[in-house]
Amino acid sequence: MGDPRPLRVAPPVTDFDIPALRQLAQDLHETMVAAGGAGLAAPQIGINLRVVLFGFEKLERYPEAEPVLPTLLINPEITVLDATLEEGWEGCLSVPGLRGVVGRPRRIRYAGQTLVGERLERLEREAEGFHARVVQHECDHLDGLLYPMRVQDFRRFGFTEILFPDVKGGE
Ligand code: NI
Repeated sequence: MGDPRPLRVAPPVTDFDIPALRQLAQDLHETMVAAGGAGLAAPQIGINLRVVLFGFEKLERYPEAEPVLPTLLINPEITVLDATLEEGWEGCLSVPGLRGVVGRPRRIRYAGQTLVGERLERLEREAEGFHARVVQHECDHLDGLLYPMRVQDFRRFGFTEILFPDVKGGE
């Protein structure tokens, strides 16, 4: 946060070179796992393209979160199915050490291209709760939005170690 690069609107992927996309997926995966994140967007690792990765079995950073299937999305699109705002705590690997409450539409459909072996396939899925939140958070990164820009009440924004002293990984 503070660097101008995460504030850019990322362009769509137009070169569907499979080895390059596979390499990007692997870089995203390794970075996300090393940082214990729920998701990661390509611009966060300096790749200005509309690609996100999310998914986890169990997270120390969000111990209450239900598992989400590990998913790579290229040129993702989100359709809001239920615009009712649901509040939830968010953090971000690009905004280390902080958490804030963000309201997000509670139910969405998301779609995009994904890699299946050596092929690209269109994926479409519905999501709600934390799953929907993670997808919306990651796709925000593609439009130059960091979650603090969506925080409405700064009384519910602060240091992870103070707000959630039991959470390991601090970010
Ligand atoms: Ni983030």
